Amino acid sequence: MARPWILSIIAFIGILTNAVALPQDYGDLPTVDLKPLLIDPVRKWSANTTVSFPNSPAFEASTERWTIADPPTYIAAIRPGTEGDISKVINLARSRRFPFLTRGAGHGYSASLGKFQHGLSLDLSQWKSLKIDKKAQTLTVGPGVTFADIFDPLFNAGFYIQTGSCSCPSMIGVTIGGGIGRLMGKYGLLMDALQSVRLVGADGKVKTVSATSHPDLWWGVLGAGANFGVITSATYKIHPLVNNGDVFLADFFLPASRSREYFDMVETYYSNASANVAQIVIGSWNRTTNSVQVGGNWVYYGPEEEARRELAPVFNLNATSVTRVVKWNQIINRSGGGFDKFVCQPNQPRSLYSLNQKIYSADGYQRGFKKIEKYFHDYPGGRDTTLVYEIFPNQAVAAVPDDATSFPWRDFKGFIQTNFAWAAGDEVTAKASEKLGEELRNDFSATSGYSEQAIFVNYARGDESIENVYGKRKLPRLAKLKKKYDPSNLFAYNHPLPTQYP
Ligand SMILES: Cc1cc2nc3c(=O)[nH]c(=O)nc-3n(C[C@H](O)[C@H](O)[C@H](O)COP(=O)(O)OP(=O)(O)OC[C@H]3O[C@@H](n4cnc5c(N)ncnc54)[C@H](O)[C@@H]3O)c2cc1C
Ligand SMILES: *[C@@H]1O[C@H](CO)[C@@H](O)[C@H](O)[C@H]1NC(C)=O
Ligand SMILES: *[C@@H]1O[C@H](CO)[C@@H](O)[C@H](O)[C@H]1NC(C)=O
Ligand SMILES: *[C@@H]1O[C@H](CO)[C@@H](O)[C@H](O)[C@H]1NC(C)=O
Ligand SMILES: *[C@@H]1O[C@H](CO)[C@@H](O)[C@H](O)[C@H]1NC(C)=O
Ligand SMILES: *[C@@H]1O[C@H](CO)[C@@H](O)[C@H](O)[C@H]1NC(C)=O
Repeated sequence: MARPWILSIIAFIGILTNAVALPQDYGDLPTVDLKPLLIDPVRKWSANTTVSFPNSPAFEASTERWTIADPPTYIAAIRPGTEGDISKVINLARSRRFPFLTRGAGHGYSASLGKFQHGLSLDLSQWKSLKIDKKAQTLTVGPGVTFADIFDPLFNAGFYIQTGSCSCPSMIGVTIGGGIGRLMGKYGLLMDALQSVRLVGADGKVKTVSATSHPDLWWGVLGAGANFGVITSATYKIHPLVNNGDVFLADFFLPASRSREYFDMVETYYSNASANVAQIVIGSWNRTTNSVQVGGNWVYYGPEEEARRELAPVFNLNATSVTRVVKWNQIINRSGGGFDKFVCQPNQPRSLYSLNQKIYSADGYQRGFKKIEKYFHDYPGGRDTTLVYEIFPNQAVAAVPDDATSFPWRDFKGFIQTNFAWAAGDEVTAKASEKLGEELRNDFSATSGYSEQAIFVNYARGDESIENVYGKRKLPRLAKLKKKYDPSNLFAYNHPLPTQYP
């Protein structure tokens, strides 16, 4: 048996070589048997920390994923009760070299997550703390808090905030990759509302990160936040409700034959829309009418008369419509004929191809729509797929100086997302979806207004170049931060940054 001092020297050499020679991703790490490590009494986990292993309900809950196409795989899960236990997990993973993956609500879908194999789920979905400070006008949430969790408490306290467009992802998970949504014209990205975070770093130490505390890291967290640590709480600026919290909602349904007319209307009248208007257009298969439809979901943040004036061009299409005034906390629940419930279903194979758009191009929109229309007819197994066009004004996003954060795409005001979904085992549809996804991404890129395929980190598929996700001009500084704050690349699976660039 080796003597302890020999082990220390080996460990020391290990640390030195780790610092210089770790692979960029941990995909090739040998599997470490985690059970004896985690249940060893020497760990002294806090009373509310739980550890679980495969074939138990706790393990299933701690490893559930939204998409199960090429998912990360796990051999153990931990629900830490305290920041101290998160530190212990990080320190253990660093010294024993096993992969772990922070889990908020399990909605990440980057291909890089598929490289995570036989690892530990660091499941924070139970961290549901939520605090509203009315005087300071702030909201502080834990990493398990989803948008669904904030709507009612915030509204009831008389406030609102920019959010993502679905109820199910974790608020912090969305924030750390930018956070686009309907209010980005008025209040910016969700990330722009952030005031500070608590983060357990790769060194296992807890830090407050803000404009005044570790400002260099703060710049990096605002655009590439998954790369530097585990965020245990986040504090946001909130806004008092306007117009009593009433917003105007309108859903329009048109047959596929009218798609061109619809897209022309969008390009002509909404290319420079007011910050109060947000629109999500969805090309989908309607199971009631058994046909392809254009669904246009509109939200107007203001009084109904004003909304009807602003939305006159779309009303003038005389499409089937449903309109209503709802409270801010009901927008997602009441929009798009139950779309949120449909898209939030976990445990389905899905594959997403997305792109930023700087301009709205009816030609580009229509060309893509025709292709998805054909796909719906050719592949009945793909009829849960949606082609989503998000049309969000960007005034407040563009108003933040570019160098204030690491986020590189403040000029976008639209997003294309083809969200392919099929039944597990349907390889024919899976294959056709991948082929069409590539093709659509290329097509939409040509009319995006960008000279390259630009895609912000939350929506990135994971097969893009890092320049196209993080932006060439941001990468040198981001790589330096990665090297400083995560030199051994522990946070390696969700759109990992390099430690050196170029
Ligand atoms: C249905 C759906 C709707 C979406 N809507 C929007 C939208 O409107 N706007 C938008 O911008 N994006 C949106 N997204 C993309 C979303 O922002 C990302 O998928 C995000 O990563 C999801 O976070 P999560 O915590 O739910 O997922 P997870 O899979 O739990 O987390 C994804 C990764 O983020 C990192 N991470 C998560 N939590 C933490 C934490 N507390 N500390 C450190 N790292 C962490 C980890 O690396 C993790 O692997 C949507 C995604 C889906 C599936
Ligand atoms: C676990 O217990 C500690 C100590 O009582 C408490 O502060 C913490 O909030 C608990 N954690 C969770 C996730 O509930
Ligand atoms: C929108 O504004 C931009 C910049 O001001 C301008 O170039 C463009 O022509 C406008 N588009 C429409 C359709 O009005
Ligand atoms: C299907 O189409 C009908 C008629 O246009 C519409 O009322 C209904 O809301 C649509 N369903 C979905 C899920 O979009
Ligand atoms: C909508 O209806 C009005 C009134 O009937 C009519 O004048 C108009 O031409 C119609 N528009 C379209 C696009 O069908
Ligand atoms: C969503 O709406 C349905 C019916 O309209 C209602 O039963 C449900 O409680 C709502 N959910 C939330 C979270 O508001």
